[in-house]
Amino acid sequence: MKTKPAIVKPAIVKPAIGSHPADRAGESIEALRKAAVTCRACPLWKNATQTVFGEGPAHAPIMLVGEQPGDQEDLAGHPFVGPAGGLLTRALAAVDVPREQVYVTNAVKHFKFELRGKRRLHKKPVDAEIAACHDWLRREIELIGPNLLVALGATAARSILGRATPIMVNRGKLHQYAPGISLLITVHPSFLLRVPEQDKDNEYRRFVTDLELAKPFLRAT
Ligand code: URA
Repeated sequence: MKTKPAIVKPAIVKPAIGSHPADRAGESIEALRKAAVTCRACPLWKNATQTVFGEGPAHAPIMLVGEQPGDQEDLAGHPFVGPAGGLLTRALAAVDVPREQVYVTNAVKHFKFELRGKRRLHKKPVDAEIAACHDWLRREIELIGPNLLVALGATAARSILGRATPIMVNRGKLHQYAPGISLLITVHPSFLLRVPEQDKDNEYRRFVTDLELAKPFLRAT
């Protein structure tokens, strides 16, 4: 018997327009990026080096959304430049989607970590932090105007859909997000770095298979 596909409906709860700095930042992605530099919407800015904003073509047809910058991204000020970013770039190349042609961003724009000696260990953002950062992502989506959103993992899906969304049952298929915008949900590339060695190849192949659904969106432009 065929299982019914899970239905995903956007459920973003929007705060009053104008109450978040993202809504006062103007109408260009550059103005939005500039305004985000001084964001104080949640306490994560205090320990982070800098805001790490999205990057890519101003009208990219595909927008990939990760969780939050990691240690290397925090220091460099660019998204997905560490090990997870390397894996993501490789997987995109495998499906003929050059990374330079997509917009890459995060649900949360500051690195959250705890210090263990000298090491800064990644900490998952909580719902309040995801919500505080959501308006930056919402405005990125509005200004870039992608035809496809790719949610990389649970935090991205949480921000995009406004509620907890199981990744494994919703991954690997196209959902309708909004008129003219499809949504592809898949795992976060750092998941692939953490799986046991014997599962790595298989999980990487599944990730690449998911990303294959993105390719036609590049050709359509
Ligand atoms: N993980 C993310 O989710 N985003 C980055 O930019 C880097 C690692």
